[in-house]
Amino acid sequence: MKQQAKITLVGAGPGDPELLTIKGLRAIQSADVILYDALVNRELLKEAPSHALKIYVGKRADNHRYSQDEINLMLVQYAFSNGHVVRLKGGDSFVFGRGHEEITYADAFGIETVIVPGISSCISVPELQRVPVTRRGVNESFWVLTATTKNGCLSKDLRIAAQSNATAVILMGIRKIAQIAEIFARQGKGNTPVLVVQNGSLPSERKLLGTVNDIAKKVVNEGIGAPGIIIIGEVVALHPELAVAEANRSTKYDLRSTTNVT
Ligand SMILES: C[S@@+](CC[C@H](N)C(=O)[O-])C[C@H]1O[C@@H](n2cnc3c(N)ncnc32)[C@H](O)[C@@H]1O
Repeated sequence: MKQQAKITLVGAGPGDPELLTIKGLRAIQSADVILYDALVNRELLKEAPSHALKIYVGKRADNHRYSQDEINLMLVQYAFSNGHVVRLKGGDSFVFGRGHEEITYADAFGIETVIVPGISSCISVPELQRVPVTRRGVNESFWVLTATTKNGCLSKDLRIAAQSNATAVILMGIRKIAQIAEIFARQGKGNTPVLVVQNGSLPSERKLLGTVNDIAKKVVNEGIGAPGIIIIGEVVALHPELAVAEANRSTKYDLRSTTNVT
C-alpha cells in the first residue's frame, strides 16, 4: 500500500557511508523515492527498498543542473504520487545545503516533513585529520564560510574572518585558494598554518599542509581539486605531522643544549 505523502531531509555526512546517522539510515530504508546530490556516497542507495526510485539531481556530466525550483517541485510531486521521499544531501542539509529552502517549500503544501541532521564536512573533515576547529588556549571560535557566493563572487566575509583569531573553515574555495590566501596574507597572516583536504573521510582522501604564503602553489602543484575544504588557523599546527616536526625541533634543541653542558 502506498505510504502517505512525506518528505524526509537527510544529511548523509561527509562521504564515508558509516558516518550516516541511524535515523538517516532508517529513513532511507523506508523510502519510496530518493533524490540525491553529487556528494552523497552511492553505497547508501543500496540500503533503499528494491522498489524505491533513485534519482540523481546533482550536477551532471553535461553540466546541466536541475534548478532549485525543479527540485522543489519534484520533491512535492513525488511525495504525492509515490509516498515517502527522502532528500539525501552531503554533510548536513542546513550547512550550505539549501535544505531549508526545500523543506519550507514542501511545508507550504501541507506535506509531513522530517529533518534528520547530518555530520557536516566543516567539522568532521578537519576532525578526521585530528585538527580540532576550537582548542582551549589556541582559539575561541570558528567561522564556516563559503568562498563562492550565489553570484560566483568571493565572499566579503572572508576579509572579516581574516581579521579575527578564529579558525576559518572555508568550503567551495579550492579554485579560489590564491585569492583567499592573499586576503589572509594582507592581514599579516602569511605564516599561519593551513590544511587543505579533498574527499575527506573517503579512501580517496588527500591532504596538504602549508602556510597562507605557500598553500596556493602547493594546491596547484599537487593537483588538489573539489570537493575540498580549507582550514586556516593556529589549530592546524596541532595536526600530527606538524606537531611531530615541532617536537623533533625541540628535541634537537634539547640534545644540543645537553651536549653543551657536558
Ligand atoms: C554545497 S557545499 C555542502 C556542504 C555540506 N552541506 C556539509 O555540511 O558538509 C559542498 C562543499 O562542502 C565541502 N565538502 C563536502 N564534503 C567534503 C569532503 N568529504 N571533503 C572535503 N570537502 C567537502 C566542499 O568544500 C564542497 O565544495
